[in-house]
Amino acid sequence: MSDPEGFRIAVLISGGGTNLQAIIDAIRAGSIPATITRVISNRPAAGGLDRAAQAGIATDVIDHRAFSSRAQYDAELAERLDALQPDLIVLAGFMRILGDDLVDRFSGRLINIHPSLLPAYRGLRTHERALEAGEHRHGCSVHYVIPELDAGPVIAQAAVAIEPGDTAETLARRVQAMEHRLYPEVVRWIAEGRVALDGDRVRRDGDYHPAPPCLTETAMDTS
Ligand code: GRF
Repeated sequence: MSDPEGFRIAVLISGGGTNLQAIIDAIRAGSIPATITRVISNRPAAGGLDRAAQAGIATDVIDHRAFSSRAQYDAELAERLDALQPDLIVLAGFMRILGDDLVDRFSGRLINIHPSLLPAYRGLRTHERALEAGEHRHGCSVHYVIPELDAGPVIAQAAVAIEPGDTAETLARRVQAMEHRLYPEVVRWIAEGRVALDGDRVRRDGDYHPAPPCLTETAMDTS
């Protein structure tokens, strides 16, 4: 309680940082009781670094090209994160696979947003693959990170309908708009202590639920 920063968040990015921006905006609006204490990018040119600077948030670049192995990169990242003592580490378009040691070290404090309705479409090109498969629904998932890629317990999802004529670009745009609603909401739940990882299950509002809540373009279904 004596920490003036309260609930401390570190955000890891590689790119434009629109999800970062959504979280910054929600904190500013008073919706999330938390402080982003650092934004870390593995790419020096990531647009999200400018967004952080604009918001007065300290940034670090840990350029993966300066490291000869993933283990060395992860060791440096872990050291920086340890120094920050984050309550939560938010992966927001961080395009590097984290090694098992790092994931285990921050287990329960590490979340990611993935552009599919997990467990469907882990990995890359999710929008293309959903269209190719003739899906009627697509979306995004916020999940705890575990060593297996895109496989951790899902905290919440957001869904959009796939419309006739959708391309990967139009679909990605609608899914991203939902990401920007979903991610701040989940970060808020965690900052408020309403959601936590318990073993390999998500506890939300004191209970284990058979399915994660799903935000749609019109409502949040938490049944
Ligand atoms: C998002 O679409 C997210 O689903 C994926 O990476 C993208 C990051 O976009 N993990 P941005 O950098 O937040 O704009």
